[in-house]
Order: sequence, then structure tokens, then C-alpha cells
Amino acid sequence: MGVLNGKVAIVTGASRGIGRAIAEAFAREGARVMICGRKQETLDLVAAEIGPSVKAIACHVGRADQIDRMVAFTTKELGPVDILVNNAATNISFGPCLEIDESQFDKMIEINLKSAFRLVKAVAPGMCERGSGSIINIASIAGLRPQLYSLLYSMTKAALIMMTQSYALELGSKGVRVNAIAPGLIQTALSEHYWKDEVQRESVLEKQPIQRLGQPSDIAELALLLASEKGSYITGQTLTVDGGFLLPGL
Ligand SMILES: NC(=O)c1ccc[n+]([C@@H]2O[C@H](COP(=O)([O-])OP(=O)(O)OC[C@H]3O[C@@H](n4cnc5c(N)ncnc54)[C@H](OP(=O)(O)O)[C@@H]3O)[C@@H](O)[C@H]2O)c1
Repeated sequence: MGVLNGKVAIVTGASRGIGRAIAEAFAREGARVMICGRKQETLDLVAAEIGPSVKAIACHVGRADQIDRMVAFTTKELGPVDILVNNAATNISFGPCLEIDESQFDKMIEINLKSAFRLVKAVAPGMCERGSGSIINIASIAGLRPQLYSLLYSMTKAALIMMTQSYALELGSKGVRVNAIAPGLIQTALSEHYWKDEVQRESVLEKQPIQRLGQPSDIAELALLLASEKGSYITGQTLTVDGGFLLPGL
């Protein structure tokens, strides 16, 4: 008997990396899971690899109409949504802050931030009516400390952390918990710049008490706790999973 038996979850950005690992953990624990990303073919392959309790729909999370379509499809195929993981994000504006233009600003807000706002609006009213739900926002340690060449990424992640706290404050009395996870360096496509090159990788690892790269499963196991009844007294939190990277040393 899995800890998510009978639950329905949406995981955005689950064609690879952290989102995929979360979908795998949720399915292993008995949930029916809708995964999304931008390419239906890739998603279909991933869903087939994980198992029959996983369905897939292409959804660009920066597009309101596609979010509505995904939520409607999930409800029709799997039932009302109990768990939402806002995981999909991008970092298209990596580089010097004075070279960023307005179109990049708008796009980063749309994909990294407004997507979570739209998805919460689409699924949380049903959670409130049923008196239960768990929303998990994947933030970043870059939302807790500035990161060089990541102005917009850090800014959107910081806002996602405050969004988490604000929703948690209002929705807790209705049975809906809202938490964020702030990963440190996790070995995925998004963070290649920080781990592929040996010098770069060592400069991160030398600051970490835990001397290894984080893996998507490190985030997935925490998401599982937050999604399940085992995390029923946790809300409004941002839990850092970074191998101790942010610990201030003397
Ligand atoms: N890896 C790290 O070190 C790290 C650290 C801190 C925080 N995070 C956060 O963890 C989350 C997952 O990152 P990751 O490292 O797993 O990245 P990843 O391996 O690049 O995966 C990103 C996923 O998001 C999807 N995606 C990207 N843009 C999308 C869009 N507009 N609409 C829908 N789906 C979209 C991608 O699929 P398609 O490209 O097929 O659409 C993919 O499935 C992100 O929120 C990221 O900010 C990661």
C-alpha cells in the first residue's frame, strides 16, 4: 500500500530531470499522475516507461489556454487533482544583468511564476471544496541568495517562495498545504553549466559538507513527504536540499 494510494497528481516539467523523478516516486507510491512538458512524443515515452498510472499531455506552462486544457484533461482522465507540483521552469536569461531585455523579463515571469499562479487558480478551488490538497513549488537556492548572471531566475524563484507562504497562510484552514523546495545543485540538463566542467563542479563541491552532486531523486523523496499525509503538519515552508551548500562556514 503506497502513501499516495488513490491520489491524483499533476507534475509540470516531468519529461526529464527533477519532474520526472517526482512523477516516478508518486507513481511508485500509488498515485495517478499527469505529466506535462512541451513535447507530446517525449512525454508519451516517459509515461510508458514509468507505468500505466501515468498519463501525459503536452502543455507549455506559459500559456493560459494550455494550462486550462491540461487541468480539464487531468480531471476527465484521472479525477479531481489532490496534488500539484509546479516544477517546470527555465533560465533563458543567464548572463550579465544589464544585457537582459524586457521580452526575457516577461518570458521568465510567464514561465517560472505566472504558470504557478494560473495552476493554483485552476486546481486549488476544488481542493478547498474537498478540504484537502498539497501544492509543492520547486524553487531554488537561487531564490534565497543572489546567483551571478541569474537576475531573472533568482527573482522569479524568490517570488515563488513568497507566493508559497502567502497561499499557505490563506489556504491552510481549508485543508490545503503549500510548500516549496529549494534545491541546490542537482545533476540535470538545466544545471549542466555548473557540473559538466570539472573546475566548475569542484568549486561547488568544495563548499558542500555532502561531497556529491545532488540527484533528482533527492528532491523527489522530499516532494513525496510533502505530498503525503506524512507531511500533514508542514505548510508554508521552503525546504532546502543542497548538500549543505548554503551553510555559513566560519
Ligand atoms: N537542476 C538544478 O540544479 C536545479 C536547482 C535548483 C532548482 N531547480 C529547479 O528544479 C526544477 C526542474 O529543473 P530540472 O533541473 O529538472 O530541469 P530540466 O532537466 O531542464 O527539466 C525541465 C523540465 O521542464 C520542462 N519545461 C521547460 N520549459 C517548459 C515550459 N515552458 N512548459 C512546460 N514544460 C517546460 C522540460 O520539458 P520540455 O523541454 O520538453 O518542455 C523538462 O521536462 C526547475 O523549477 C528548476 O528551476 C533545479
